[in-house]
Amino acid sequence: MASDSDFPRIMLKPLTGVQLEQYVADLARLRIEVFRDYPYLYDGSAAYEEKYLRTYVDSPDSVLIAAFHGDQLVGASTGLPMDHETDNIKEPVAAAGFPSSEVFYFGESVLQRSYRGQGIGVGFFREREAHARRLGRFRYCMFCGVVRADDDLRRPAGHVPLDGFWQRRGYHKVPGLVCRIAWTELGETEETPKVLQFWVRALD
Ligand SMILES: CC(C)(COP(=O)(O)OP(=O)(O)OC[C@H]1O[C@@H](n2cnc3c(N)ncnc32)[C@H](O)[C@@H]1OP(=O)(O)O)[C@@H](O)C(=O)NCCC(=O)NCCS
Repeated sequence: MASDSDFPRIMLKPLTGVQLEQYVADLARLRIEVFRDYPYLYDGSAAYEEKYLRTYVDSPDSVLIAAFHGDQLVGASTGLPMDHETDNIKEPVAAAGFPSSEVFYFGESVLQRSYRGQGIGVGFFREREAHARRLGRFRYCMFCGVVRADDDLRRPAGHVPLDGFWQRRGYHKVPGLVCRIAWTELGETEETPKVLQFWVRALD
């Protein structure tokens, strides 16, 4: 059985707004590495990353929960006020009855494979929710996950969807609430829109 001493010591450090700037390149590298896997199948590029991450740097209330092993960034998780998100994400949520001003939106969680299963992902949720609570003006935390068909042939054997992990963090799917985000998938030559399902939790 694994004991605590079998795991490297990881420090979680919340950074906000312009403090994110110095980690943009590391975060881009992590996103490209981790999202290459199913279900995202992201064929990442530095140009896409620069544009995507700019939204977070430019938002004064954004957060990056940085997971460090020593001085190396091995995982990260982001969030920002929904008001600062792009229209393709913000508009469907508002149309479903969640005013943008009341929603703190989680961008992503990415963790190198060898560091998984020791509670860092749970820490990402705890720290982002704490940040949203500290800001004091949000009723909900929301995020979205890509929708793939059950019979998608690219699904690796033994793949476990994160639905159960998310439910155990207190989130549930909002029926029918989806958005579209474009990226270039492995095997594609240009960006095409993908459907993502929203999940929500009311902040206590
Ligand atoms: C999502 C992701 C960051 C989760 O990371 P993780 O660190 O492996 O997750 P955790 O170890 O915190 O949680 C996994 C399980 O281990 C448990 N766990 C193990 N050790 C633990 C500890 N010391 N403390 C708390 N929980 C622990 C958790 O409780 C959880 O089980 P549960 O859901 O039954 O409660 C990681 O799987 C990942 O990078 N995936 C690929 C990218 C992705 O799909 N991201 C999500 C969409 S953006």
